[in-house]
Amino acid sequence: MALAQGLHESKTCRKQDITLTRRNTTSLLEYQKQGFKISSSNSASILHADTIFICVLPQQLNELLEEIKQTIDPKKQLIVSVVTGAHTDVFKKVIGKSCRIIRAMPNTAMKVRESMTCLSASNATAKDLQLVQSLFNTMGSSIVIEEEMMSAATALCACGIAFFLRTIRAASQGGVEIGFHAGDALKIAAQTALGAAKLLTENKTHPEQEIDKVTSPKGCTIAGLNEMEHQGLSSAMIKGIRLSSQIANSLYNSK
Ligand SMILES: NC(=O)c1ccc[n+]([C@@H]2O[C@H](COP(=O)([O-])OP(=O)(O)OC[C@H]3O[C@@H](n4cnc5c(N)ncnc54)[C@H](OP(=O)(O)O)[C@@H]3O)[C@@H](O)[C@H]2O)c1
Repeated sequence: MALAQGLHESKTCRKQDITLTRRNTTSLLEYQKQGFKISSSNSASILHADTIFICVLPQQLNELLEEIKQTIDPKKQLIVSVVTGAHTDVFKKVIGKSCRIIRAMPNTAMKVRESMTCLSASNATAKDLQLVQSLFNTMGSSIVIEEEMMSAATALCACGIAFFLRTIRAASQGGVEIGFHAGDALKIAAQTALGAAKLLTENKTHPEQEIDKVTSPKGCTIAGLNEMEHQGLSSAMIKGIRLSSQIANSLYNSK
């Protein structure tokens, strides 16, 4: 839904030209009231579409592709897939035709227009890629990567939201332990995390450059930071990202 809103708000598409599909359309009724078209039939919905966004779970992909494969016209239609772990070869194999496909790995911060989206293209034109990148740029930032890096992108970008949220929760729990009420602690932790990220994106600096600015000799910041590292802070994050990437790569099961 965030994607559909983004398409409309970026003025790439009018609401009435976007059809949202689900097998059960009950939860789409509010979007119908807003002006989007809704349907439970994928094949009917893509009949006159020039771009098809596929946003189902990996285990739901084959059934969906089987439903639409007769209707897809590779010359006319571009496919944009956000399905984790589904390589473009899967689409070619199940659809049986060579399609123009762009894989996208955004994150839930699309809803606040702060997503990081990684894109990879297969058989798509430069114009296709430009169109899709400009769409995702209205919901944050994006980069184009090789398809082999999409599972890594899933870990760092899509799962990454949860990793950083957990670190914010941990910071707020620490804040409560040293005397803040829970609400204040969370507000302080979240805004501090936002500030840290903005220092990097706006100053274009490396984290250690910013850390050096706040760690005075024998001071409290370096003491806290080193204790966290002794407890495995960086190592835990690196190992978690590595495991997520491995699992993301195996989520789509062709059987
Ligand atoms: N959430 C994220 O942060 C994120 C980020 C990047 C990529 N992704 C990827 O995006 C995909 C969707 O994730 P999600 O979190 O949005 O999952 P989700 O909440 O489970 O959504 C899947 C949707 O697909 C619909 N669906 C399933 N089969 C369908 C079919 N045959 N025809 C039409 N609609 C169908 C489901 O509705 P019905 O059951 O009513 O049909 C449901 O609305 C996944 O592959 C995920 O890995 C997610």
